[in-house]
Amino acid sequence: MEERIGIIYDKIEGESLLDWVMRTGDVQSCAVYMANLHKEILQNNISNVPSYKEFLKYNIVKALSGNPNKQKEALDMLDKLKDGNTLCHGDFHPGNIFISDGQAMVIDFMNVCHGDFLYDIARTVFLVEYTPVPAEVKEREMLLQLKKTLADLYLIEMNVTREVVQDYLLVIIMARAGECPNE
Ligand SMILES: Nc1ncnc2c1ncn2[C@@H]1O[C@H](COP(=O)(O)OP(=O)(O)O)[C@@H](O)[C@H]1O
Ligand SMILES: [Mg+2]
Repeated sequence: MEERIGIIYDKIEGESLLDWVMRTGDVQSCAVYMANLHKEILQNNISNVPSYKEFLKYNIVKALSGNPNKQKEALDMLDKLKDGNTLCHGDFHPGNIFISDGQAMVIDFMNVCHGDFLYDIARTVFLVEYTPVPAEVKEREMLLQLKKTLADLYLIEMNVTREVVQDYLLVIIMARAGECPNE
């Protein structure tokens, strides 16, 4: 359109899962919605999209350009993580999930990539639990607790322990400073 290339999506009508969980307070059902949808996504294979490692590498290089030792350490850690052809959403969190008639659907595939399924699970744990809540937000403590509980319940529903995602999580955290410098 007007010499620009884009993708036209069907518009999903409904409520985001984030709004839904804030309204209902039902963190357990939120975790079930997330896990069931994520398991479905992670059953697919794909190769003609970037590897998750390209995304992390780009952001690590950007974040740690002033610290070559730390940058090398992070890139070595990244190198040791598994590759894979699992379809990873790359940004799977309740703000990108919609609930309509009890059916969960996902939007915002901007960060789609291929890799080991544990990357996408670790990325969700990061987005749910580790992203900051601004200091001025009312009920900040309650929200932080809710984020932690949701991450715990989501991992239980995915049958994955924190231990198996911890190396992914560390690298994701180091790369985040490149992805969101102001966060
Ligand atoms: N209701 C919706 N149905 C389908 N696609 C949507 C809907 N809302 C947003 N999107 C698409 O998802 C992408 C990201 O939107 P959104 O997740 O709202 O923003 P952000 O990038 O800030 O996370 C955009 O391409 C947008 O067009
Ligand atoms: Mg989004």
